Amino acid sequence: MTSPDKPDAGKPDAGKPNADKQTWASATRLVHAGDSEEARAGFAARGVNPPVQRASTVVLPDAASLYGNDHPTYGRAGLGVQASLEAALCELEGAVAAKLFSSGAAAITAALMTVLSAGDEVLVSAGAYAPTRRFCDGMLARFGVRTRYFAPSAAAGEVLAMIGGQTRAVFLESPASLTFELQDVPAIASGARARGVLTLIDNTWGAGLLFRPLDHGVDLSVQALTKYVSGGSDVFMGSVAVRDPSLGERLLQTVWDTGWAVSPDDCYTVLRSLRTLTLRLARHGASALRVAQWLASQPEVARMLCPALPGSPDHALWKRDFSGTNGLFGLVLKAGPAHAADAFLDALQVFKLGFSWGGFESLAVSSDPQVRNLGRGWRADGALMRLHVGLEAPEDLIADLRRGLDAFAAACDQA
Ligand SMILES: Cc1ncc(COP(=O)(O)O)c(C=O)c1O
Repeated sequence: MTSPDKPDAGKPDAGKPNADKQTWASATRLVHAGDSEEARAGFAARGVNPPVQRASTVVLPDAASLYGNDHPTYGRAGLGVQASLEAALCELEGAVAAKLFSSGAAAITAALMTVLSAGDEVLVSAGAYAPTRRFCDGMLARFGVRTRYFAPSAAAGEVLAMIGGQTRAVFLESPASLTFELQDVPAIASGARARGVLTLIDNTWGAGLLFRPLDHGVDLSVQALTKYVSGGSDVFMGSVAVRDPSLGERLLQTVWDTGWAVSPDDCYTVLRSLRTLTLRLARHGASALRVAQWLASQPEVARMLCPALPGSPDHALWKRDFSGTNGLFGLVLKAGPAHAADAFLDALQVFKLGFSWGGFESLAVSSDPQVRNLGRGWRADGALMRLHVGLEAPEDLIADLRRGLDAFAAACDQA
């Protein structure tokens, strides 16, 4: 047996040649214990998953390598598992480069900061996620970038007609957050490109699978991996994927300049979930369609906001551009007192009340307080709700919604 003060001087070694470890004090030995080239590289046997290297520091083999730029010299922009996740996202998105950020919101702001400078103008869908618009109106404005909004239902021609001399980018989100209008993304992207203007999209809804923005001419595809790609409601992460290598280099520069970093453990979790994305999305989509079809026939429901439903206003666009649907859609209840909408939510037992989506669990929120602040002219007689259909059995979800609608109807009758 090896004594703590006289360790076996054989394996594993400390990485550098001829280290005379027998002469080292315990403190020195403990700092280097278990270290070897093999351990760092993940051993010769090839596990099916990438090794998780928890390392801010990268050790270099010799002085000449310290300032080389063909290998990582510091861990902030990511090591093995981050690179594996980026490579997997490149395949998902059909991208040449993908960069990771600590949340979806961080990925959105990074993408905008990569392509905009003081004096520029960006055109943004008024249907974009509220923090995106807040970033444009606040931070970007402070740094001299102007934002103008277009309606989430604006036709491609209307959006392109807004492009002016200072316009550098168009930011899309389709379907729109909360109200689910679709945009003609390919037409906007090709028209913008013809005018020398870049397009960006928040494609969290499409998850890189149901809609592939880069195939449709978009320059920067952003998603909150926090939602479907992660799917476990337990990790924050975002990505930006591009096909143009020079945009990839600019993105990497943004990563370095802003100091954003993502943890290897989070990357491992997201990569693990990515493997099951197709299965989960298929189940979310099939269940959501069944639930949405049922809701559409209920007397308490005034309108469905679900482009995958035949007969919905953007169904033709959805069929043309999307390969499937997911679990997220909206609905408008029949007109009733405000407390009746709350009664609907409070009666739900399987659906939990929560603002996120994309995870395994079904969620419901009322969206009226949010759309009222959007300035996008949202009009409806009844309350706007957003549902996320999770992986539970759809018949249990339908029974739960019936319970909610009964509570809504009862509260309307009492009013
Ligand atoms: C459409 C959309 N984009 C981006 C985000 C932001 O993601 P994150 O919470 O990871 O910052 C969200 C979060 O709800 C979202 O709904």
